[in-house]
Amino acid sequence: MSKLTKLTSWSALEKHFDDIKALHMRDMFEKDSGRFDKFSIQLNDILYDYSKNRIDDQTIRLLLDLAEEAGLTVQIEKMFSGEAINHTEQRAVLHTALRDRSTEPLIVNGQDIRAEIKQERQRVMQLAEQIRTRKWRGVTNQAITDVVNIGIGGSHLGPLMVTEALRPHSLHDINVHFVSNIDENHINDTLEYLNPETTFFIIASKTFTTQDTMVNAESARQWYINKLGSDEHIERHFCAVTSNVGLATEFGVAGPNIFKMWDWVGGRYSLWSAIGLSSVIMIGSDQFEELLNGAYEVDQHFSSAPLAENIPVIMALLGLWYNNFFDAQSMAVLPYDQHLHRFPSYLQQADMESNGKSVDNQAQQVDYTTGPVIFGEIGIAAQHAFFQLLHQGTKLVPADILAPVYNFRCIARHHRALMSNVFAQTEALMRGKTQQQVYDELKREGMSEEKIKQLMPYKVFPGNRPTSTILFDTLNPKTLGSIIALYEHKIFVQGVIWNINSFDQWGVELGKQLAKNILHELDDNECVASHDSSTNGLINHYKTRRPIKKEDKRM
Ligand code: F6P
Repeated sequence: MSKLTKLTSWSALEKHFDDIKALHMRDMFEKDSGRFDKFSIQLNDILYDYSKNRIDDQTIRLLLDLAEEAGLTVQIEKMFSGEAINHTEQRAVLHTALRDRSTEPLIVNGQDIRAEIKQERQRVMQLAEQIRTRKWRGVTNQAITDVVNIGIGGSHLGPLMVTEALRPHSLHDINVHFVSNIDENHINDTLEYLNPETTFFIIASKTFTTQDTMVNAESARQWYINKLGSDEHIERHFCAVTSNVGLATEFGVAGPNIFKMWDWVGGRYSLWSAIGLSSVIMIGSDQFEELLNGAYEVDQHFSSAPLAENIPVIMALLGLWYNNFFDAQSMAVLPYDQHLHRFPSYLQQADMESNGKSVDNQAQQVDYTTGPVIFGEIGIAAQHAFFQLLHQGTKLVPADILAPVYNFRCIARHHRALMSNVFAQTEALMRGKTQQQVYDELKREGMSEEKIKQLMPYKVFPGNRPTSTILFDTLNPKTLGSIIALYEHKIFVQGVIWNINSFDQWGVELGKQLAKNILHELDDNECVASHDSSTNGLINHYKTRRPIKKEDKRM
């Protein structure tokens, strides 16, 4: 048995789980009218209500004991101080430094990193402002109208999510596009209506070796050359964000257009760095600073609030409670704000690439479950798609609901209706509908006893389905920064307790390696026999049915 499941608090939680598992939240609310006050936390303009969870005072006490016993406080200090907690890659984890407003030295590998962070941010903002104010001119002396971010994973999902979330705060005469898929349809569709003379590309890749990004970057360059007949002044149309300055230079990006990333920022935690350039162009430097400020406020809360009043800690502990004790396999994230429509896919990478691990920090196979499957959708859309399963399915799916108290462009009629759904759904999931309620309802409708008997089982809602609600005043840059940081720290806390390294991602390597080898096998039409029968069969089917190989059609 591993260390985690040997902890005193773990055994206490197992015992406590037996006492609480059959209790219904409906009864808990009836017995304790102070539940909301007790189980909610306000941080600036964010209210976190976790009272609709299958917990009581004792649950929270024991979960907090678990966090203490797992050494959470020490690990938080280690992360913020720049210790190499990403031990498999020997790296510090300092995305928090990118938004830190303090001026005290922060030493990484013998160097104070503060000045470099500031300098790089200034360079990013300078370029963004030049583009925004139409001072940056392209090859034919025209201003930039379209910016295309070419990247994938953390070099795509974070900036895309932020850009979409803050669209109402954006400058409307520059279009920001995102290309991530190696499928040529993505870049072809994006470039189809763009003018190379007024288009600016950001090649966003920490490593500058990611196949998808490099193939797309090469096609973008080729498109520019083909359209304009030469690569003259290409430097006015391409920049790179990377920690691999050598490869970016080799690719042809001019030195002043290369923005630095550091190995102590993980890809999925990098939207605060120069990877956020597309967002800065979209919303401007001041609002990007606000995004950083919002995250910084949460960093301060996370590193100083007592664990019992610490939102990311409570979020993490609840997730763990369902994951490890109720055996929940997944977790839904449901934003009731259209502009957060990319938040679920952003969070999928942030959470699942971080905590989808099964070997602990002592290189032992874990004997408990770790990161859940994260999925989600805009809440209203999800109500008409998969909420049926949340309400009446056989699986327990804890959900986070995120909603704004008011909208940037508020039309009261819309917003009241939206919010009525937020409140109704969390109440319905918690309370359910009893047989008696169904009976009374159908009786009132005049249904016969026989028909009621037939229909009743289908119309009962078991309830007792947990939700936590994050209500924020409105979706502005600062609040968005805070929300993202809450989730980043939640993921960290869970990783600490599960005793796994949340900051590496070895699990993405194997597929990449195999794809590299298979790519060579696709060069000719010879039958392959080097794989299992399924892989051979699929490759050979593809080879026989693909159109006769033509030279690559240049874009
Ligand atoms: O394949 C996964 C991954 O390594 C992510 O961790 C990362 O965010 C993404 O690829 C992109 O990597 P890069 O920024 O180096 O191109």
